[in-house]
Amino acid sequence: MMDRESKKGVGVIDFHSHMIPGIDDGSSTPDESIEMLRSSAEQGVTAVVFTPHFYATHDTYDHFIDKRKRCLSQLAQEGGGAILPVRIGAEVAYFEGITAMEELPGLRISGSRCLLLEMPFQAWTKRVIDEVISLNRDKNFQIVIAHIERHLRYFSDDMLYTLLNQGVMIQSNAEFFSTRSTRRRALRMLGDGQIHLLGTDCHNMTTRPPNMQEALQVISEKFGDGMLKEIYLRGVRVLRKDGM
Ligand SMILES: [Fe+2]
Repeated sequence: MMDRESKKGVGVIDFHSHMIPGIDDGSSTPDESIEMLRSSAEQGVTAVVFTPHFYATHDTYDHFIDKRKRCLSQLAQEGGGAILPVRIGAEVAYFEGITAMEELPGLRISGSRCLLLEMPFQAWTKRVIDEVISLNRDKNFQIVIAHIERHLRYFSDDMLYTLLNQGVMIQSNAEFFSTRSTRRRALRMLGDGQIHLLGTDCHNMTTRPPNMQEALQVISEKFGDGMLKEIYLRGVRVLRKDGM
């Protein structure tokens, strides 16, 4: 991935964002997307992964891909591509039977095996865990579970251990680190190797803006810039064609 150095000399990839205009409940116009990209760059983000929502229950693969292409070309026409290096992916909501979806590889982050997966917002079952592991092990995906902090009440330690042990990766949102009430848990999970990648999950410039900066400070204060480098290099590796 083409990348830039941040002010601190440590790259940071925002692995989870809704900056494609008009495709989902994220950015609504190319101008807003451009503001979001500029704000990200100012906060030290050096590359962004666009991950618009994909719900197999509400949308077809072909319709999603076509819409994504159209919305991206609008952003490109307005000069959005020049601000930060970008990769294109999706935030795919889990559904029972996802392992049988033939087009699923087309929803991976471009140029990689990585699939950002939004897990259920209810107790995870053995079936869910088995399907995620099957995607990761048998179907040539590198599964990255999105915003783990929003699912903490839905899985057991055993489930998390099993997923980690099978090579499933975990993304958390920046606010898990910047929110005072959750910071300690976020840092503990990061230190224990239970969080691998960071994202902002930014949706707009008002209620859910890009907010990477404070998370980077919190992590750097606790672990030093070495931890930021580790997260960055892990991100670069996983975005390679045969990554991880
Ligand atoms: Fe999201």
